[in-house]
Amino acid sequence: EADKSHLEEVAAGEDCRIIMGGLSMGQAFVQAPEHRAKPSVAEADGIPVIDLSPLFTADADGVDALAAEVGRASRDWGFFVVVRHGVPEEVVARAVEAQREFFALPPERRAAVARSEAAQMGYYASDHTKNVRDWKEAFDLVPRQPPPRSAVVFDNKWPDDLPGFREAMEEYGKAVEELAFKLLELIARSLGLRPDRLHGFFQDEQTTFIRLNHYPPCPSPDLALGIGHHKDAGALTILYQDDVGGLDVRRQSNGEWVRVRPIPQSFIINVGDIIQVWSNDRYESAEHRVAVNVEKERFSIPFFFYPASYTMVEPLEEIVSEESPARYNPYSWGEFFSTRKNGNFMKLDVENIQI
Ligand code: SIN
Ligand code: FE2
Repeated sequence: EADKSHLEEVAAGEDCRIIMGGLSMGQAFVQAPEHRAKPSVAEADGIPVIDLSPLFTADADGVDALAAEVGRASRDWGFFVVVRHGVPEEVVARAVEAQREFFALPPERRAAVARSEAAQMGYYASDHTKNVRDWKEAFDLVPRQPPPRSAVVFDNKWPDDLPGFREAMEEYGKAVEELAFKLLELIARSLGLRPDRLHGFFQDEQTTFIRLNHYPPCPSPDLALGIGHHKDAGALTILYQDDVGGLDVRRQSNGEWVRVRPIPQSFIINVGDIIQVWSNDRYESAEHRVAVNVEKERFSIPFFFYPASYTMVEPLEEIVSEESPARYNPYSWGEFFSTRKNGNFMKLDVENIQI
C-alpha cells in the first residue's frame, strides 16, 4: 500500500487529475488512445521458446542448430524466451527475494538511496517514457566494478541494513553476464561471424546495468502503462519476469501486440538497437511496452547488456557489401549513452542515424 500512495504522491504534483473508480491517477500517466494496452491482447504462442541445453553438451551440430534458431527468432520477432539457460535457479531466487525486500522498505528508506544526477544508479518512482509517466518504481545498479581509470564510472547506491542485497545482485549479475556472452556468441554465429566476433565490445569497460522494476497495482490499467512503448537502445536485454505477466511485444510481420506468457525458470531476450545496427537491419529491435493491472503488483529485472562507452556502433564490415550497403552512420555509444535523462535512453533515437 505504501507503494501505491507513493506513486499517487507523484501524481498529486500534476495539475490535472482524473478520478477513476474512486482512485485517483494523475493525467500525466494517461497514454494516448492508440498506445493503451488492450485487455484482450493475445498471449504469445508465437514468441519462440528456445532450449539452450545444447550449449552445455558440447555437441557442435546442436550449437549450429541453436544458432540458426536464435537467428530466426531475432529476425522474425526481435524477441525470444530461453529455458535451460544455465543460470542457477537459486541465484535468481535470491535476487528476486532481495528485490521484494527492497520494495517492501518504507518510502523514506527507499528515498535514502534515491538516484541523483551525479550517481546515476539508485531508486526512483515513475520515470517518463516518451513524455508519459510510467506506473512503476525502479532501482538501478551496476553489478560489476569497472577497472580504475574507466571512461564512465557509475556510483551504486546500496541500501543500508538490507542484509545480502548487494551480494545477491552481484551474484545475479555475474551469472546473467555469462548467459549474455553465450547469447552474443549464438547471435554472432547466426550472422555467419566468428563466434567471439562481438565479445571485444564488452570487455572490462562495458556499461551494462541491472534494473529492478516494481509495478504496483494500478487504478486505471486501461489508461496507464507500466512502461510506454519503446525499443531498447543497447545490444541485448535479458529479462526476468515473475508469474503475473504484462510485457507486450509488437510483432514485426503484422504489427500486432502480443503478450509474453510467463514461463517459470525462463528469461526473455530481446535484440536492441545496437544489434540492429551491427546486423545492418537483418535483426530488428522490436517495440514493446508493459501493461499493469488492478489487483496484482508485478516484479521484473532487466539486465541491459551494453558495450564499452568508447564503442563506435556501425554495421559490421563483414555484413555490408555492395549489394547490401550500410544503412547507418557510425555513432558513439558513449555519446548516445550520456544523453540519458531520468533513465530515458531513447532521447537519441537510432532512427536519427539511419542513412
Ligand atoms: C522493459 O524493460 O522494457 C520491460 C520490463 C518488464 O517486462 O517489466
Ligand atoms: Fe525495454
